[in-house]
Amino acid sequence: MNIRPRRLRSNPLIRSMVRETRMDPSSLIYPMFVREGKGIVEEIKTMPGQFRYTVDTMGKILESLLDCGVTKVMLFGIPDKKDPLGSGAYEKDGIVQKALRVGKKDFPQMYFITDVCMCEYTSHGHCGILKEREVDNDKTLKFLSDIALSHVQAGADMVAPSDMMDGRIAAIRKGLDQHGYIDTPIMSYAAKYASSFYGPFREAAGSAPEFGDRKSYQMDYHNKREALKETLLDVEEGADIIMVKPALSYLDIISEVRNQISLPVAAYSVSGEYSMIKAAAKLGFMDETQAVCETAVSTYRAGADIYLTYYAKELAGYMKEGRIG
Ligand code: PBG
Repeated sequence: MNIRPRRLRSNPLIRSMVRETRMDPSSLIYPMFVREGKGIVEEIKTMPGQFRYTVDTMGKILESLLDCGVTKVMLFGIPDKKDPLGSGAYEKDGIVQKALRVGKKDFPQMYFITDVCMCEYTSHGHCGILKEREVDNDKTLKFLSDIALSHVQAGADMVAPSDMMDGRIAAIRKGLDQHGYIDTPIMSYAAKYASSFYGPFREAAGSAPEFGDRKSYQMDYHNKREALKETLLDVEEGADIIMVKPALSYLDIISEVRNQISLPVAAYSVSGEYSMIKAAAKLGFMDETQAVCETAVSTYRAGADIYLTYYAKELAGYMKEGRIG
């Protein structure tokens, strides 16, 4: 035999030399939950090992992230009260706005990205303003633009709309530009599927819809070409980074989007992906570390440049150790 593929696999040194997928902790984003109240660090039942923090306790997690080399977070807010217009999302003293003001002051080395959506703030739990039992797309745009603006005014470094309304990137871009924030990037949840893998998050954020589902705005998981349609629209509207969500069941989408556009591509390993591994590991069915490494590397291998994951801290360690990357 002239050609023996095993030659390049014979020991760890050579395997590390011929790796095709390289990654670095600088590409990790940690999603975190901030709630109203004082002195609370509360474990999320559906996501063991993940917590809801208050503004005065979130310093602990921010500090430990920086210690591990994770320098980006995605903030999710959990308000005290909800109403049909989701006003907690764009108030000057909304939970995310308060967290940003404190976070930016105490942790200037951290990069703060915010999730721009209404579902955590509306009493009906939908991602926009209702007209009877439907989400009114065009009416919602102004609200999304106001939410994004209020986040940036409070210090957000980047905004990430996750609502899936048509035209929201253009609306948010225009709102930010009109107020002089021409340099604040938008990471669009461009190809966001209606997914059962958001189940644990909805418990974490208390954002399950009161009636119906999100299928009239989030994408149908039978579709791949539609992900490109959404992506190209968002690129045209001025998105700076394109996100695919979830990650694990959507590696083909990540790969397709990577091949078709020149923008950075992010993939969000969502709550259900985290909880699935946690649960299997707890039952002794699988090794947690190995499963976390394999799913992360497969996402980068599919073409993701940026990885949002609740395992960011652990992965940064595995990357630094050279276990992966
Ligand atoms: C808000 C939002 C959701 C997630 C991110 N932003 C929930 C949803 O769309 O129902 C899910 C994140 C996760 O599951 O980890 N719309």
